[in-house]
Amino acid sequence: MNMKITPFISNNNIYSQKSEKNSPAFGTTHRYYKNANGEFGTNTWPFRDDIDWKALSEYEKKHFKNTQKVNLVQFASSDGSEAYTQIISLIENNPSADDKKFFPIKAFDIDPEVVKAAQSRLLNTMTFDRVSLQMNTENYDKYFKETGKKLDIKDDIKFDSVKTLEVSKILTDKVVFENADMYKVLAKMEDNSNTILMCRNILGYFDDNKIENFIKLVAEKLKKGSLFLIGEHDTRISFTERYLGENGFTKVMKHVFKKL
Ligand SMILES: C[S@@+](CC[C@H](N)C(=O)[O-])C[C@H]1O[C@@H](n2cnc3c(N)ncnc32)[C@H](O)[C@@H]1O
Repeated sequence: MNMKITPFISNNNIYSQKSEKNSPAFGTTHRYYKNANGEFGTNTWPFRDDIDWKALSEYEKKHFKNTQKVNLVQFASSDGSEAYTQIISLIENNPSADDKKFFPIKAFDIDPEVVKAAQSRLLNTMTFDRVSLQMNTENYDKYFKETGKKLDIKDDIKFDSVKTLEVSKILTDKVVFENADMYKVLAKMEDNSNTILMCRNILGYFDDNKIENFIKLVAEKLKKGSLFLIGEHDTRISFTERYLGENGFTKVMKHVFKKL
């Protein structure tokens, strides 16, 4: 089944740059590649503003207050930007010793090149990303350091303002990046009502019937109380939200759904 490939267009088009592929865009990593299932796009950046990260982390802590271990799983994890965003949000908002129950995040992406980048503990950033990180944490210098090392991601669009940052062990120790297809991981997943499944800005690339089938599988796997997170790209051009409603999920905040 082929994916719908749509150009990544940002309203916040401050880093518009002509690329060979198409589209004005911004984002730490922006790469196209092909595999047996079709043409894919990776496009991500830290503190992607389609979710209220502070409110989310506070909700996660409250919701799983009486849970000893939370199974935090991330599909479509790309270069690590999103995992670092979730970790910073969890450790900085209402911090407590109990926060360790959320870690390590188990992060999966089907693209071996982008997984290799995430595993390198380096992160390519543009000015927008660094400003966004600095606005969202007072501990920027604790988490990220400029480095002479270069992170070369094959087929990534090269922007002039890219700086490679070294990511501190404070963050990298809290996530494990693995190269895997989310379908295979989902098929083996066991839930005990303690799962947060992040699957953001990927379903929107699939055809509708594939999205619906995926949501049905998620609904079979997740038990009452577990959370499922999607993104703007999933809601804007697909019926993902409708399928979630039809398969036993209720919306608890923008792009965050709870299994009933
Ligand atoms: C647009 S990026 C989204 C990144 C991040 N979740 C975010 O919201 O910023 C989509 C990612 O999904 C990955 N992907 C595509 N199909 C996948 C699959 N079947 N299993 C795991 N990852 C997949 C791509 O390699 C790409 O890195």
